[in-house]
Amino acid sequence: MTFRVIAGGRDAASTPGLLVHGAAQVATLAGGLRRGATQDDVAIVSTPDTPGSGGPGRRDAPVVACWEGAILAVGPRASVSRTLEAEGYPVSRFARLDADGGTVTPGLIDPHTHLLFAGTREGELRLRQRGAGYLEILAAGGGILSTVEATRAASNEELLTHGRRWLAEMLRHGVTTIEAKSGYGLDVATELRLLEIADALGREGPVDVIPTFLGAHAVPAEFRDKADATEAYVRCVIEEQLPAVAAQGIARSCDVFCEGGVFSADQSRRILAAAQGLGLAPRLHADELKASGGAELAASIGAASADHLAAVSAAGIDALAGAAEASRPVVATILPATTWFLMSGHYAPARKLIDRGVPVALGTDFNPGTSPTPNLPLVMTIACLSLGLTPAEALAAVTINAAHALRLDDEIGSLEPGKAADLVVWGVPSVDQIPYWPGADLVRAVVKDGRVVVGGD
Ligand code: NIG
Ligand code: FE
Repeated sequence: MTFRVIAGGRDAASTPGLLVHGAAQVATLAGGLRRGATQDDVAIVSTPDTPGSGGPGRRDAPVVACWEGAILAVGPRASVSRTLEAEGYPVSRFARLDADGGTVTPGLIDPHTHLLFAGTREGELRLRQRGAGYLEILAAGGGILSTVEATRAASNEELLTHGRRWLAEMLRHGVTTIEAKSGYGLDVATELRLLEIADALGREGPVDVIPTFLGAHAVPAEFRDKADATEAYVRCVIEEQLPAVAAQGIARSCDVFCEGGVFSADQSRRILAAAQGLGLAPRLHADELKASGGAELAASIGAASADHLAAVSAAGIDALAGAAEASRPVVATILPATTWFLMSGHYAPARKLIDRGVPVALGTDFNPGTSPTPNLPLVMTIACLSLGLTPAEALAAVTINAAHALRLDDEIGSLEPGKAADLVVWGVPSVDQIPYWPGADLVRAVVKDGRVVVGGD
């Protein structure tokens, strides 16, 4: 299948309009947050079969019209053309992108990454193969702490180069927005540096980068000899790091690794309360390895998301289900590539969460220890194979629900008039085929803010 731009394309920045046409399916994800049965509905506009043509008709195939970086109209070609004419848009000034029988979706959103780090940890894979546990490696000073050492020593230029490399790869997999956590600095200077670099990478584009402060990712080595080391570090996060992060003004959220042996639910609550007081939205690494009260805490404070949940308790599921009807429910952000890479086999109960009405998002958790994959469509595949999600549920999880997890649902996550013109043209004819080809290179074009940034030639 080939894709070509009839006019415009990469150099179309001066052309304010873009018309994406010729798609077999456009999954708009219009209609807001997905929860319960609606998670399976991706609001598809399809090409009707034209009688006698021997194939799908193209005359009234769905189109997406973008203008000055925003979605203008989506629907059957004839009705969109009428809208454009009635509203006086100069149709001749629209560049055209031919989807050539493929599928169009909103740009994917990865709501949980640890984008910025230095060094690699392939040695831990061998240790795990010999039976070592993730927290055991961390307690021995490895794991996150070895990445902290390498990251503190890395220059800004090295971190920028690393960030650009992986953002480019994410973009080629159809990702147009990511969240990026700090958390490999664990001191004021390096945490601020990581947030600043994440912010700089987002400004550079084309992928938008939404920075999150994760000072409470582990207790750093220099605190480990102190009496009550974890408590001393929690005070450092609350009294020194958080005020500096708030003053810097880059991070939008604060995350905590709430896990037995790392930060307790009570310590997490105190950190997140302080963060909320400074205007940062709370989110948590919750119940990743053991049930630790993370889901219950997320529900009780109205966190933007509770992430991982591989070991969530029945009470934790109840708490998230109890919060699910809120106008801003806690989004359960499931990270199944982590479970896979940790060789745990104990996946999050995503099916149960959806059935209890909890909105589910999916992310890569891209990081050097537990999930070194930048491939969000592969995560969709794992979600279908190991969590029991349908392809449509998985797509909703990486678009509109991921937008909610980042509290960016007014701007991105669906193809609706007024939202950012971020979309992907996939070289497959249906949504169901996106997770069907594990790890395959299916993206034929990516449009970011109305501009073709991948493919299209
Ligand atoms: O989401 N568990 C905490 N943070 C990451 C792993 C970070 C690391 O191992 O470097 C996670 O799994
Ligand atoms: Fe993580």
